[in-house]
Amino acid sequence: MTKQEEIAKLKAEKDAVILAHYYVAPDVQEVADYIGDSFYLSKLAQGLPNAAIVFCGVNFMGESGKLLSPDKQVLLPDVHADCPMAHMVRKEDVDRFRQDYPDLAVVCYINSTAEIKTWADVCVTSANAVKVVRSLPNQDILFIPDQNLGQYVAQQVPEKNVMVVDGYCPIHHVISADELRALQTDHPQAQLLVHPECPPAVRALADYIGSTSGIIKYATENEGQEFIVATEAGVLYELQKKNPHKTFYFPPTTPVCPDMKTITLDKIIHVLKTGENQTNLSTEVAATAKLPLERMLELSK
Ligand code: 13P
Ligand code: SF4
Repeated sequence: MTKQEEIAKLKAEKDAVILAHYYVAPDVQEVADYIGDSFYLSKLAQGLPNAAIVFCGVNFMGESGKLLSPDKQVLLPDVHADCPMAHMVRKEDVDRFRQDYPDLAVVCYINSTAEIKTWADVCVTSANAVKVVRSLPNQDILFIPDQNLGQYVAQQVPEKNVMVVDGYCPIHHVISADELRALQTDHPQAQLLVHPECPPAVRALADYIGSTSGIIKYATENEGQEFIVATEAGVLYELQKKNPHKTFYFPPTTPVCPDMKTITLDKIIHVLKTGENQTNLSTEVAATAKLPLERMLELSK
């Protein structure tokens, strides 16, 4: 039996469904029932009929799945797959902003631990951050933890006072504007597609800025034949699947998220067989952290 066949058999036995982010390795994307960006996966988790979800991504994704589907078993193929940015804000900083701005809304990127979500008024993903922030009644906004997505939202919603902390994605934050400019020189017809987790100098060069799904949709629907892509290289698999005749260029220092790449078929088989690596949250954290996620789903309808 191949690994793929074994996964299919175990899934049926355990009534499990496999969700994967676009950044995981191609063979993992291939066995997934659903692939998407963080927003799509969080929406999906709520409505699935299965008893168990195998979340192929990093910890915060499993936690979000569990918060939105508390009755399901949520299994993580590798508990060490942890997004560094998900921890990059301190409670005392949030408290200080709350003291200084009495009408503050704390807007928390979904790339954050469940505990950090308990400090927030609403969550966002890169696909809905602008829409959600714009729809809030509050004038003063603290965006945590990603400074880059926060600054991008501040630019797009100038009518509000959007403040940021200093978290960042170690993969997107170091994408080099110089390397992208060199690619633009070599491929003058290519459009530059940028994830908003990239720093300002990179965003300033972009023809399009959006989430991973947004980038894939733009490249698929646009008449252009060549694209320079400034996000994690895992998206190339879906980009090529949807657009076999288009050409995609990535920066020579290829953006690769090592945490996303720790997910393997063997680890999926292991958690399906053993039920190990279940996401469990304390009752208190679960009750509080799900509220900003539910508000996000409501406001982004
Ligand atoms: P999106 O899935 O919202 O594009 O975010 C990218 C990311 O960094 C996920 O870890
Ligand atoms: Fe976190 Fe960046 Fe990896 Fe996404 S790509 S999981 S934000 S480190």
